[in-house]
Order: sequence, then structure tokens, then C-alpha cells
Amino acid sequence: MNHVPNSLDPVVIASPSTRQSLTGPVPTSGPVGVAGVRGGGTLRGDGYARLPGASLGVDAKWAAGELTQFAQAYEGLPRDPYAPHANRYRRYSHAVYLPWKDELSFIPGVPDAEYGSTSAYWQDEHNREFPRIRRRLPDLPTALHSNQLLNAIIRADLAEALWLPQLHTAPVYIGIHMVRLAVRDQAQVAMSSPNCLHQDGGSPALCTFAHLIGRRNIHGGENIIATADSAGRQPGELSPSAIHARFVLSEPLDGYGVHDQRVAHYVAPVRLADAADTGHRDILLLGIAPFIPGM
Ligand SMILES: [Fe+2]
Repeated sequence: MNHVPNSLDPVVIASPSTRQSLTGPVPTSGPVGVAGVRGGGTLRGDGYARLPGASLGVDAKWAAGELTQFAQAYEGLPRDPYAPHANRYRRYSHAVYLPWKDELSFIPGVPDAEYGSTSAYWQDEHNREFPRIRRRLPDLPTALHSNQLLNAIIRADLAEALWLPQLHTAPVYIGIHMVRLAVRDQAQVAMSSPNCLHQDGGSPALCTFAHLIGRRNIHGGENIIATADSAGRQPGELSPSAIHARFVLSEPLDGYGVHDQRVAHYVAPVRLADAADTGHRDILLLGIAPFIPGM
């Protein structure tokens, strides 16, 4: 997965030890700074972890206020330029993190007449719907670069991934993806891409994280984490033993993380709930991988 200008204010984050396994209890321990975080937890041990919102290590009332602002940005997401009929809306930007300086900075996109700027999104051959196609997606608005909740989530996910030694000796690339699946009538289906169990590809050190921003008036959207060799299959084709976990992100900021090469992941399409006019599922996806120089 290919995976955003400004030095950002420090925010508190959760240590991996405060994050929870898929079946673990709600965390109660306090936040720590990124520089003091040690690796561990089920992401390290099992290749996947359920990450409840409470594990972000931020004050719940503060987070609710920041979430309102961040969620507003999903109302104006542009349609996916590569799938205009998929009922999918998205923005995507890159950031870089220097672990030896504890410094996070958004990477400017390429100027674009329609979207202001775009960033390249690359999933090599791992997305069978767009094999070896370098998609250019509309960037996050620069006003979001300083959103403190976004920064808290990025730093919490960095803390979760930094057990990987490859992330200590290279700039860390961060792909920041805002995706809305939206439906407006009972006949519509909105789906993620690819619509099957898959891995995101790219670096063997890639960790992908998903955080629910909002969910309203929909059915579906179930997540499945399964064995790596489940990639390319539909959930109905899997034996029960291949499935590590299945769950629905229902509460704002509820999330999960995967060490991409060790597991496959999936989200089911969403449909409009009965008697509703419109519905949507808003998600924040972060891809974290070491930057590999091409020289
Ligand atoms: Fe994915």
C-alpha cells in the first residue's frame, strides 16, 4: 500500500499495552507519549487487534467535540473518481513520521484542477479491481492537518505499529484515507474495494488501521479478519477455522488494526436500513509502512 506540511502539536496516545485484543476488556490505563511506547499486544503477537475508541488514550469528552468537526468533513467527500457508481466517497493523503525526532508532517499533494490536489494510491497487484494501477485520489483538505483528533489517532496507531524494527530506521510513511459508503434507497449497495477478503500489499511491515467515524441508517458493514491465504475469497467460501474474528464497528472511534502480511481483512457491503431515506458508514483508514527509497 502506498502510503501527508506542518509540524504538529504533540498529543497523548495510548500505549499498545492499553489497546485490547478482540475479546479483551475495556482499557482503563492512562495515556503515554509516543516516544515512551513499547511494542506488543495482539497486533504484534497475532497480526490483528481490535482497538476500541477508549484505547486512543484521549479524554472522551474532548474526543467527542473533535469528532464532530472531523465527521463534518465526511459530508463533503468527493465520489471515488475510479468508481463513480460504487456509492463510495473518499479522500486520501500522505504523511511522514520521523521516529527519531517524534515528528509528524503531512506531505503536499500534486496540484489538480478539479480537486485542488491529489495523492497517489498504489496497491500493486493486491487489489484485483485495480491491479498495478496508480490511482490519484483527492487530498484531505489542509484544514484537517491540524485536527487534533486525527493527529491523536495517527499517533496512537504509530505507537501500535512501532514494535516493528523496520519502523525505527526509516521515515515512516502514513496513508490517510477517509472513506464514506453511502446509500440513498433500498436498491443501492455501497461497497469497499476490493469487495473480498484481501491484503493491502506493499511493504511486509505494512500495518493497516480502521477507525469508525460514524454509522447511520445502514445494514451490513461487518468486518472479518482471517488467515492470509483467505485473500481473494468471499466470506462464504471460508472455513470457520480460517476466520480469526468477525465484528461490526458500531461505536464512533471503534477500530481494529492488522499487520497486513499475516492476515487478510474484509468489510461487507452496506445497504439502507428499513424505512430510512439515507444512510452511510464513515471510516478512517491508516496505512503505516517504512519509506523505501527508490535510488
Ligand atoms: Fe484493505
